[in-house]
Amino acid sequence: MTSAPNTQLQTEASLDSEKAPWWRQAAVYQVYPRSFADADGDGLGDIPGIASKADYLAELGIDAVWLSPFYPSELADGGYDVADYRNVDPRLGTLADFDALVAALHARGIRVVVDIVPNHTSDRHVWFEEALASAPGSAARERYIFREGTGPDGALPPTDWESMFGGSAWERVPDGQWYLHHFAVEQPDLNWDNQEVRADFVRTLRFWSDRGVDGFRIDVAHMLTKDLTEPLPSKAELEAMPRDGRHPLIDRDDVHDVYAEWRRVFNEYDPPRTAVAEAWVDSSRVPLYASAESLGQAFNFELLEADFEAGQFQRIVRDNLALAKLSGSSTTWVLSNHDVVRHPTRYGLPHPERDADGRPARKHGNEWLLSGGMQPVLDRVGGLRRARAATLFVLGLPGSAYLYQGEELGLHEVAEIPDALRQDPTFFRSPGVDKGRDGCRVPLPWSEGGRSFGFGDGGAHLPQPSWFALHAVDVEDGRPDSTLTMYRRALALRHELQTDEELDWIDTGRADVLRFARPNGWQVVTNFGTEPFELDRADVLLASDEAPLGIVPGETTVWLAPN
Ligand code: GLC
Repeated sequence: MTSAPNTQLQTEASLDSEKAPWWRQAAVYQVYPRSFADADGDGLGDIPGIASKADYLAELGIDAVWLSPFYPSELADGGYDVADYRNVDPRLGTLADFDALVAALHARGIRVVVDIVPNHTSDRHVWFEEALASAPGSAARERYIFREGTGPDGALPPTDWESMFGGSAWERVPDGQWYLHHFAVEQPDLNWDNQEVRADFVRTLRFWSDRGVDGFRIDVAHMLTKDLTEPLPSKAELEAMPRDGRHPLIDRDDVHDVYAEWRRVFNEYDPPRTAVAEAWVDSSRVPLYASAESLGQAFNFELLEADFEAGQFQRIVRDNLALAKLSGSSTTWVLSNHDVVRHPTRYGLPHPERDADGRPARKHGNEWLLSGGMQPVLDRVGGLRRARAATLFVLGLPGSAYLYQGEELGLHEVAEIPDALRQDPTFFRSPGVDKGRDGCRVPLPWSEGGRSFGFGDGGAHLPQPSWFALHAVDVEDGRPDSTLTMYRRALALRHELQTDEELDWIDTGRADVLRFARPNGWQVVTNFGTEPFELDRADVLLASDEAPLGIVPGETTVWLAPN
């Protein structure tokens, strides 16, 4: 891998001198630390492994790295079960390694965003251990949500609520009380009415901000505060309640009191620390999270559920640019992350069935995963072609783009993981229904050969398929037609072309071809159909696939030079 001294100088300077806040149109690259690069050869990726790839990240041309949790964890949920919010998992390194990583990234002009998981801790967190060792009604139990059961001897859970990962949302402890966990059993929900809980998260935000962290990604940001006034409603009653800010469990207006306090902390720093909300809420309520008084930015997940189809893409872009205007924030674009089937695979499978609201009736790709990747047949080549076109479309839009590790290599989802090696609790808690998220979390291939394709000397904690060799970094590096080359060129050009957060649609006369222009004249044309589209210009800067002069072939995006 080559280092990029020029980029280094340029971006180092730009850390201080940008006029618009850095995050508004950043390309943020998500690293799933346990699957990125393994420096100590224990089969698990680690912090020094990420630092060893700092030049790779600089050469890729991203503006920031978002690190999924690297904190001490029993890995009941891929690290989203945090046992200590102000430390590094010893299997992943030390705080000194973390500081070295931040320094290495900052020296290359790359910002660092870390994941904060405030809805729940791990059941190995010292607070939960204390709660279990303490009596019902004690201050230690008050940090979590403990209730008496129902039925004879309280042997039934307090309510019939279900966990997001399947099964009951309540778990009984030996003295007979039950605690609430909206995710895995090992992830007890915190009580956000408790002042000690609030104060501790502020301490955590300061701890990482003081270490030079530039921003935070807030996990399940819409679920922290809860109204648990008795009698508790049933699952059916909850489902019938409107999500208007007063729902007992989801997207409550009072969660923004928490974020208003965080915002004051963020603004104590120069530049202010940033945050992006993972909030699965109705799009009309996203601006609340994205406002400058709250977290400042929120994920827009709509493209995760869209088909590769012009009408859907255009509607989503229009709606989300309008929502961004309402909040004053920039919008965000996400095609893949650690929770969903990778986008080349989604686009290589038949369109999902949709429910009455137009949303996929089931998790897209799950049927294919359940069959071990056999049914329906995956169109690998077509899926990747469409994914590359979608990526170039998104990278041309105003706002931030969140990229997920491995998408720059054109990786497909891995279906061939034996059940015995699966790790994701969604698989264990819903047997035969949900295959889980391990298929997008398989360690990256860095080299064509060698043990675990260069991930590390000690194998990979999730098995890599043989076809990973075709996508290895050293195979794609320097090849003009590789997906890695396309991402590098697109991200470099994006820096040069970036302009105000606006776009104008240009009529193409075709329902399956979208074309827009940014304020400086930079244009993006995506042909979502299969018939070639004739262009009135020949000054193509970049194409997602080979494009003959004056033509945008089917399922291809091109960028045109500013006037
Ligand atoms: C978020 C994370 C997901 C995790 C869940 C519970 O949705 O993205 O990976 O399982 O929160 O923390």
